[in-house]
Amino acid sequence: MEYFVKSGNPEKQRVACVIVGIFERRSPTTMAEIIDRASGGAVGSVMRRGDMDGKLGQSLVLHNVPGTFADRVMLVGLGRERGFDEAAFRKAIAASSSALRNTGSIDAVNFLTHQEIKGRDFRWNVLQALLATQAEYYRFDACRGEQAREDLPSYKLERLTFDVPRRSDLPAGEAGMRDALAIGVGQALAKDLGNLPGNLCTPTYLAETAQALASRKGVKVRVLEEADMQQLGMGSLLSVSAGSRQPAKLIVLEYLNGPKGEKPVALVGKGLTFDAGGISIKPAAQMDEMKFDMCGGAAVLGTFKAVQELELPINLVGVVAASENLPDGQAVKPGDVVTSMAGITIEVLNTDAEGRLILADALTYVEREFDPAVCIDMATLTGACVVALGGYPSGLFANNAGLARALTQAGEQIGDRVWELPLWPEYDDHIKSECADIANIATKNGREGGAIIGATFLHRFTRKMKWAHLDIAGTAWIGKKATGRPVPLLVQYLLNLAARQSED
Ligand code: BES
Ligand code: MN
Ligand code: ZN
Repeated sequence: MEYFVKSGNPEKQRVACVIVGIFERRSPTTMAEIIDRASGGAVGSVMRRGDMDGKLGQSLVLHNVPGTFADRVMLVGLGRERGFDEAAFRKAIAASSSALRNTGSIDAVNFLTHQEIKGRDFRWNVLQALLATQAEYYRFDACRGEQAREDLPSYKLERLTFDVPRRSDLPAGEAGMRDALAIGVGQALAKDLGNLPGNLCTPTYLAETAQALASRKGVKVRVLEEADMQQLGMGSLLSVSAGSRQPAKLIVLEYLNGPKGEKPVALVGKGLTFDAGGISIKPAAQMDEMKFDMCGGAAVLGTFKAVQELELPINLVGVVAASENLPDGQAVKPGDVVTSMAGITIEVLNTDAEGRLILADALTYVEREFDPAVCIDMATLTGACVVALGGYPSGLFANNAGLARALTQAGEQIGDRVWELPLWPEYDDHIKSECADIANIATKNGREGGAIIGATFLHRFTRKMKWAHLDIAGTAWIGKKATGRPVPLLVQYLLNLAARQSED
C-alpha cells in the first residue's frame, strides 16, 4: 500500500473510489454537496430513499455516479455535525478504510480529512487518518498454516490518498503522513512481537529482533547475557529467570543522532515473554494472555524503529529486560531474599510480582551507564492498574512534574492517553519487609492501590533520575490482540522534544 496527500476536487478524481462524508439527518458535507451538484442530485436522491442517513460509521458505495470521473463514490456517515470530535473522526476514517477494502478499488481519494476539528490542524488530520487506516489494515497471520494463509482474503487496494482543502495545507498534511508512516511501522513491530506466542517470542527472539534494527543505520545494539548480569550484580533480575530454561537477556539499544554530549532520553521496557507467575503460580484462566507481558519491551523496540525511520535529531537509549517467569525446581521461592544491582535487598514475597524485580536492575543499569536526561519505563506491571483505570489510559507515575505534563500532552495529541496516579511517600511504608530492605509486594493494607505499590517499588531505584513509569497492563492489548501502545505516545513525546530542541 502506498499513501499520498493531495489537494483536488472530488468530482474530478480519476480513481476507483472517491470518499465523502454525510452528517446525521442526511446533511452532506461540502465535498458531498459538490458531488451531488455535479451529478444532478445523485447523493440527495440516495439519501431520500433512506439508504444513508449519516450515522457515524455507516457507509454506502454508489457506482457510476454521473458527472464524476471516479468509478465509485463512497458516502460515509460522520454522525452529528456538532458532536464531530476526534473520536468521531477516527471512527469515520476507520469505517471508510474498512469499507474501501471490501470494494474492488485499486486506488481511492478520501475527502474526510477535509473535516475541521477544534484545536487540530491538517497535519493532525492526515496523521490520525493514516494511523486509523493502518490499524484497520493490520493483521497477524504469522501463526496460521499454509492453507489458511492461502485462503486469506486478498485486497486490490494499492494507493490511498488523503485530500486536504488547499494547496497550502499540503506541507502540513505531508508532515502528518511522514510521522504516521513511521509510527505505523514501529507500532506494527510492537504488535507483531506482542501477538507472537511465548514459545516463539522468547528473550532470545527479542534480542535478535533488536539486533535486526541495528543492521540499519543509526542504531547500535548490545545484549548482556546472564553471566554479564551476574557480574553486574543483577540478583533481582536473575531471580526471575532462575526457573526458566530460556536465558534472560538485557538488550541495550543506542541511537545517538542529537547534539554531541547531550544526555539521552532512556526508555526501559518489561520484556517478560511469558509470565506464569513462577512458584506463586497464576490461575489457568486467561493465562495465555501472559504472552503479552513483554509489550513494554516491544514498545521500546517499536519506538526505536519509528525514531530510526524519522531520523529524529535526538539522543535515545533503550533497555529491554527480557525473561520468562516459570515455576521450576530452581525457581526463586516466596520468602527468598535477593540483592539488586543497586545493593538494595528484596524479599520476594510473591514471585508473580516479577516485573518490578527485572525493572529494578534495568533501571539501575540505565542510571549508572547512561545518566539519562529523563528515563521512561513501560511495563504490563499490575492487574490493579486495569482495575483502577480500565483499558483507556495507561497509568502514569513520575517523580518530575514537567515530565508528567509532557507525557500527558503527547498522549492527548496523538490519542494514546495516560492518567497520572500518585507516588506519595505514604506508600513507601507499604513495602517494608521484616527481614530485607524492601518487599516486592505490599506488606500492609492487602491489595489496596496495587498499581501505586508497584510504581512505589520502582521509585526506590530511580531516586537519582527524572523518571516516569507507564503501567500499560490495561492498554497493551485488548481481548487477545496487541495494540502497539504506547509507541504512538512515545514517538509523539520524542517528536515534541526534537521540535523544542530545534527552537533553542
Ligand atoms: N504481568 C502481571 C500483571 C498483569 C496481570 C498484567 C494481568 C495484565 C493483566 C504481573 O507480573 C503480575 O502478575 N502482577 C501481580 C502483582 C501482585 C502479585 C502484587 C498482579 O497484578 O496480580
Ligand atoms: Mn507476574
Ligand atoms: Zn508479569
